[in-house]
Amino acid sequence: MTQDELKTLVGQAALHYVEPGSVVGVGTGSTVNKFIDALAAIKHTIKGAVSSSVASTERLKALGIEVFEAGDVQELAVYIDGADEIDHAGHMVKGGGAALTREKIVAAQSRKFVCIADESKLVEALGQFPLPVEVVPMATQRLIRQFAAMGGLATIRLKDGQPLITDNGQHILDVTGLRITDPLAFENQVSQWPGVVTVGVFAVQKANVCLLGTASGVKTLTF
Ligand code: 5RP
Repeated sequence: MTQDELKTLVGQAALHYVEPGSVVGVGTGSTVNKFIDALAAIKHTIKGAVSSSVASTERLKALGIEVFEAGDVQELAVYIDGADEIDHAGHMVKGGGAALTREKIVAAQSRKFVCIADESKLVEALGQFPLPVEVVPMATQRLIRQFAAMGGLATIRLKDGQPLITDNGQHILDVTGLRITDPLAFENQVSQWPGVVTVGVFAVQKANVCLLGTASGVKTLTF
């Protein structure tokens, strides 16, 4: 099976976690796009969605799924999102699509985080994928030095030769060279640095379930 087919498989498997009559938390990325497409087939059974990005909102609306503001919904039963890396305890690196801040916000108001990913995303330790960190631009140069002091090389993510601007009007640093052995401690430490909006380690809001697309079908990992 191709990686794209594995993504389709887990996108469809995630429908099992959608509660009838509920508002669903929806993440961002190519795997989530498969979930959104699958969700369209059962849209009459749900109230709608809270989305973690402009891109997902547009896709949901185009398929006729109502999108609510996060602030208008108290609690979500489930949040479905992809990951750039997930370890065997459900800790993730996210933000490859630059949507990490809104993803963490929607995950925080959800009772269950269901991660959907193809098997290439499962790792022993986080840190191979360049770690996305959303930052306030005036802090960028100091934050690059702070990551260097812990052995990381941080670069500003570009789009069309200019710093990428997130949905929140901020920049993204991508940090290589880190081996994140204690994701919870790392997330708590870096989140305290002035100018960091969101670090792409999801350990506080870790996955409760991972639907992993493999050559032999969907494996369900629970944490
Ligand atoms: C976006 C994300 C995505 O979940 C992550 O990048 C995985 O994307 P894909 O499903 O396209 O591999 O965190 O900010």
